[in-house]
Amino acid sequence: MPKVSVLFVCLGNICRSPMAESIFRAKVMKAGLAEEITIDSAGTGNWHIGENPDPRTIRVLAENNIHIFSRARQVRSQDFQVFDYIIAMDGANIRDLKNWQSSNHDKLSLMLEWSNPGSQAEVPDPYYGDMTEFNAVYELLDEATDKLLADIREKSQISRT
Ligand code: 4NP
Repeated sequence: MPKVSVLFVCLGNICRSPMAESIFRAKVMKAGLAEEITIDSAGTGNWHIGENPDPRTIRVLAENNIHIFSRARQVRSQDFQVFDYIIAMDGANIRDLKNWQSSNHDKLSLMLEWSNPGSQAEVPDPYYGDMTEFNAVYELLDEATDKLLADIREKSQISRT
């Protein structure tokens, strides 16, 4: 059974990427694929290293019956070797990741490319917003992670449900 690893990346690693990680993990666990798919998240910035997710991230996930455990960390060079998929929330994240590492750019994608192939749509940064923005981010990530899991299963021919 092939193993696959996925890293979600945003700026601070306290709002969007830990939310994506938690939503995706819940789907992977429900599908019985926790042993096959490794999931993590990281930020391109270093301001929040070691912190819990933003309380609004915790809240929107709790409202959708998803548990979150995450401590913010920054992207590291090994991530480009370790992870098969490095999925960024916006174009600035992609630019920062490309500057970080000059190789393995084929592993990079934008989160919303999974739900809107060919689009350059971004998951907007909700940090300076309120619960309306956090709920909107949840909806975008819920749809995109559905498509991501379906695509990974198809590509990896992981057929167990
Ligand atoms: P995230 O949101 O990238 O989705 O985790 C942000 C969190 C913190 C900051 C910016 C965005 N900040 O400027 O501290």
